[in-house]
Formats: sequence, structure tokens, C-alpha cells
Amino acid sequence: MSDHQAVSDPALQKQQRNLPPNPPGLLLLQFPEIQRQPIAYFSRLLHEYGDLVRLPILPGLTFFFAAHPDHAEHILSIHPDRYRKPDFFLKPMGLVQGQGLFSSEGEQWRKHRRLMQPAFHQKQLVDLHAVMLNCVQSLLAEWAEKPDGTAIDIAAEMTRLTLKIVSLALFSVDISDESNRLGQALRTALEYVYYRLTTPLALPIWIPTPQNLNFRQAKQNLDRIVLEIIQSRRQDPTPRCDLLSMLLAAQDEETVEGMSDRQLLDEVITLINAGHETTATALAWTWYLLGTHPNVMANLVDEVQTVLNGNDPTFEKLPQLQYTRRVLDESLRLCPPGLGLAPRAALEDDEIQGYFIPKGSIFNIAFYFISRHPDFWNNPEQFDPDRFLPEQVAQRPKFAYLPFGAGQHVCIGRNFALMEFTMILAAIAQRFHIELVPNQSIEIDPRFTLRPKYGIKVIVRKRQ
Ligand code: HEM
Repeated sequence: MSDHQAVSDPALQKQQRNLPPNPPGLLLLQFPEIQRQPIAYFSRLLHEYGDLVRLPILPGLTFFFAAHPDHAEHILSIHPDRYRKPDFFLKPMGLVQGQGLFSSEGEQWRKHRRLMQPAFHQKQLVDLHAVMLNCVQSLLAEWAEKPDGTAIDIAAEMTRLTLKIVSLALFSVDISDESNRLGQALRTALEYVYYRLTTPLALPIWIPTPQNLNFRQAKQNLDRIVLEIIQSRRQDPTPRCDLLSMLLAAQDEETVEGMSDRQLLDEVITLINAGHETTATALAWTWYLLGTHPNVMANLVDEVQTVLNGNDPTFEKLPQLQYTRRVLDESLRLCPPGLGLAPRAALEDDEIQGYFIPKGSIFNIAFYFISRHPDFWNNPEQFDPDRFLPEQVAQRPKFAYLPFGAGQHVCIGRNFALMEFTMILAAIAQRFHIELVPNQSIEIDPRFTLRPKYGIKVIVRKRQ
């Protein structure tokens, strides 16, 4: 008997009253606290009410906070057809990314995912590796010019580096410079999306408030510059070693259709956005964790020096950097760039672990908490890369660790990010000694990607 039959079975209908526990009151009233301190707020909630908590937002609209691997598996893998990203999320995201992969659903999403997937296959990454390596090397050359012992904000440096990598890998143009118009327009537009997602009573976008006008101007600039790049590439189809070349050439197997300029525009903006902030945040926290765990840093440096022996971290060498990879996996477990996946709304009544889930319920699949669940992780707050030794991984359920999501919407850039991440860690650790500036204020900015609010200051010294 399927779960669906079970829910419509009259004998089990009384289960419909078996709703997950909820704290008293409407979630809307808790918004200020959630915005200020989401991690503390949700930790308390999970502690008091268990792994699945029901939070009524408004009468008729309920939010579920889900923090068990089985919840993730149910929604993402067993019954993905029963859930989709809700409009209240897709619409603000679509203001900047249009109908790109991250902000679309249904047939449009499926078609684009099929068209774009080949560009992210492992074999395509070999070519992009050279682009990434050049970017890291030019950053290291800049650092080498600084007097030894200079303090830098490594979080800001990682943002600059990953934006440069993603823009060069995508369309062979560097937009990482502060003064770059495309980069500026993107930053303004994303700030505005955050504002709309977190301000339920924001005035409609057509009202000419200074904020709305500022956004509209930024989005116009963004579209114009990216469209110019796309159109000039159509006019001069000399193959280049970047993702845009592959996207321009991509054709649907059945219809033999490619993407229009507008569709490409949405996907390019989506990839710039999804492809740099996440990686930059993850790298910044990794340097922080390494700085606070000198024994792990020493093991990593040891591996990098042994495997690379003074040479570049080439594509072929990366799989040998196994400890470095475990550091990265553990860092993404403790400090993932987000609390949870994009929200999912139930398209029909459902049942999860004996609880009734009414149609329209909104889920936050909270991977931040799933990857700290004490049933699956010993001493969850402890930074221990050896949790990712193969024999330990084999003992955990697959859905206990989801930094890249799972199921049909799993991160398309996962291999790209893992290659970039490993290479950046190795290249920097090989050439520089990194040490945290003492007594600095380290805090999580709870917006979107949980980046470090005041940056992370480190002292860099060249290795002899
Ligand atoms: C450490 C780095 C990264 C992390 C942790 C990460 C995480 C994620 C997660 C969790 C999702 C799934 C969201 C959901 O189901 O709600 C996702 C989707 C996505 N990611 Fe990443 N990502 C990273 C890097 C990248 C990079 C480098 C790119 C592109 C160059 C990228 C492009 C995308 C896109 C386009 C989607 C939407 C996929 C779809 O819905 O079909 N990401 N990412």
C-alpha cells in the first residue's frame, strides 16, 4: 500500500489529527527573533519539540521545520513529486534569476537541467581546472607582494577569488573587481532579493520607492551587460573553454532546440549567483576551523606537501588529497552555507513518520541541524575530519549529510565546487602559513549563506 493510499484510507484518517508538535502562537510574531538569531531559535525549538516541529505562520499556512534524515529522504528522494518550491520563494528569487534553474520548477526546470547537466560533467572540469589554477595563482602572487605578517580578511579574499573563478569559468570575463559594473549590479540586486524575502510587508515592486527604483536600475544593468556578452558570443562562435560555450551549443535531444538569449541570461545570472557566495562562505569558515584546530592544519599541510612535493595542485593530483577532502567535508557539515534547502511546499496531503502533513505545508529541510543530529554524529559540535573516513561514512544514512542537497534538485555545481575548494585549500596551504588574528569578533550573519558577519582576519606568512 502506498503512502498516498494510506492517507486517504478512512481507517487511518484519524491520523490526520496526529500533527507534529508545535509551540504556542503564530510564527509571524517570532519573525524578529528568527531573523536575528535563527540558529539559537531553531535549536531551542528542536530541543523542546523533537525533529519535526510545526509552526503555524498565519491561519491556514503552516511551516514545518524538519531535522531528521528520514524527512529529507521522504521529500527529496522517495516522493519528490509531492513537493515543490513555493511561489513565495520562486517569485523573489526570480526577480534576479528569472526562470533559471534555482528559481524554476516543472517542465521548464526539467528541460534546462537536461540541457545544462553535460556542461558540469567531470570530463568538462579538466578544462576549467586550468582557469581555477590561474586565478588562485594570481591571488597568491598578490599576497606574496605584501610584507610578511600582513593581516587580511580571508573571507573577503575568498569572495573575490570565487567570483573571479566563476565569472571566468562561465564566460571568460573577470567581474570580481569592486568597480566592475556587472559585479556591482549583481550585489545590489541580491541585497534587494534578501530584503523582499525577509520583509513580508515590503511595498510592491511597481511602487517607485527609492529601494525599488534602485533595484530596477541594477537589474536592467545586469541584464544588459550579460545579454551583450551572450550576443557577442553568438556573433563570434569561436569555441572558448568556458561553460557559456557549452550552454550556447546545448540542444535538446528530442526537439533539437537550444536556449534563447533570455533563457541563457537567466541561467548565467543563476550560475554566477549560486556559484560563488556558497563556495566563498564555505572556504572562509574552513580557514577559521583550521585556524582554531592547529593539529588539523598541520595534517593538511603535511598531506599537501607530501602529495604535491612543491608542484601545482593539478587535476590529476586532486584525488590524492584525501585528508584535504575530509577537512572540506567536515567543514561543510559544521558550517554549511545555509540553514536548510530552499523551502518545499506539499502539493497534496501527506504523511511523514506517522504525522499528518496537510496540503500546502511549507518545509524547511534543515541540513544544518540534520548534520548535527546526535543519533548520527558523535560529539556533533566537534571538528573532526576523520568522520569522513570511508568506513565511518558507510555507517551513516546517506541523508544525514546534505550540503549539496539531494534528489532531482541536487546541486549541479557540486563537482565544480569540490574541485575548486580542494584546489584553493591546497594551493594556499602549500605556499602560506595562515594564522587567525587573535581576539577578533567572529559571528554568523544569518542572511542566506551564513557568512561571517565581520569577516575572518588572518595573518599570512610565506612558507620557506
Ligand atoms: C560549497 C559550494 C556549494 C554548495 C554548498 C551548494 C549547495 C547547493 C544546494 C544545497 C543546492 C540544492 C538546493 C535545493 O534543493 O533547495 C544547490 C543547488 C544548485 N547549485 Fe549549488 N552549491 C555550491 C556550489 C555551486 C556552484 C559552484 C554552482 C555553479 C557553478 C552551483 C549551482 C547550483 C545550481 C544552479 C543549483 C540549482 C539546481 C537545481 O535546482 O536543479 N552551486 N546548491
